[in-house]
Amino acid sequence: MLEALQAPAPDKILELMSLYADDPREDKLDLGVGVYKDAEGRTPIMRAVKEAERRLLEEQTTKSYVALLGDATFLDRMRDLIFGDSVPADRIAACQTPGGTGAVHQLFELIQRADPEAVVWYSDPTWPNHPAMLAHLGIPAKTYRYFDTATRGVDFEGMLADLAGAKVGDVVLLHGCCHNPTGANPTLEQWRTIAELCVQRGLVPMIDLAYQGFGDGLDSDVAGMRYLAGQVPEILVAASCSKNFGLYRDRVGAAFAVSAAPNLTPIARGNLASLNRMNFSFPPDHGARAVGIILADDKLRLDWITELEEMRQGMLVLRRNFAEALRRATNSDRYDFVASHRGMFSRLGLTPGQVATLRSDYGVYMTGDSRINIAGLPADGLDTFASAIAAVD
Ligand code: LMR
Repeated sequence: MLEALQAPAPDKILELMSLYADDPREDKLDLGVGVYKDAEGRTPIMRAVKEAERRLLEEQTTKSYVALLGDATFLDRMRDLIFGDSVPADRIAACQTPGGTGAVHQLFELIQRADPEAVVWYSDPTWPNHPAMLAHLGIPAKTYRYFDTATRGVDFEGMLADLAGAKVGDVVLLHGCCHNPTGANPTLEQWRTIAELCVQRGLVPMIDLAYQGFGDGLDSDVAGMRYLAGQVPEILVAASCSKNFGLYRDRVGAAFAVSAAPNLTPIARGNLASLNRMNFSFPPDHGARAVGIILADDKLRLDWITELEEMRQGMLVLRRNFAEALRRATNSDRYDFVASHRGMFSRLGLTPGQVATLRSDYGVYMTGDSRINIAGLPADGLDTFASAIAAVD
């Protein structure tokens, strides 16, 4: 039987991770996978997480199952962190998932259960796992234009023109903030227009929220999404704690389904629970419980916000300094967009050939679409990297 299997198409991001690991050069530079790094190149365990884990270790008395939906404290606190008061809590059904990817997967399956005909519209470009998972699940999907390669900003007109082709009940997949891979994000005004479009055309927004707190701040990053949530009858949100709590390997995420009326919430909740049961049964507890502890404790929460803010500010400084280094190296302002992009990534706009040369000749690893992980930039090596870019550009 197994000899009939075909080799699956490699995931480009994960493939890059192993290419980097296999490169013996000491001065190689990893700007690939979206993992935060501090100035020393480490991905630290956040202080509040360490303390929450210490408490967990001391106080936890059982490892018995919790609930199919996961830990209630985690879910309630995450709901408040994300939605604020934009939607009444009795319209929001939530379940804990293995990471943000798990949340995206569960919501894709929820869409499929609710309406197998619904087309999921995703941005071109997007995180490669979006189309891969949609194809894997056999969900009809289409793209909308998103990135203006000339300005390196959002091609909002193109986006609206393409979404004009969506039919009632179709799903519009949006990045809540810090668009991956481009770093270009809609303005609040544009979020308002997106909300209007969804209401007028009966489209259901689905938000992938993997970087809350990495762009303009914890609340600012969800301002557009909250506005949208307040306008539309239904919205789906997939949230990840990988980045903003640094809990990558512990797989902490949550899926939210907002129904048009409170009497529909138990049905949505029941479906989320049953989808968990079908796919993996109970979600992993450890990381989510640590997040619940942090969000429910004023002191720990403040410490988490402080450290997250330090990380965010650090990335902004790197953006500004890198844009300046590129100005010096190229003697032009054509990379100034790096300073105005937000989040973990920017798409530089290099060709696949230039990306390959940077890898072979300079040991710089970025994804083939020239996406760089801003947190991976070397604070004291920006001019060297900028000169390499200028040399291939
Ligand atoms: C990325 O885009 O690099 C991250 O979201 C990590 C991943 O799983 O792809």
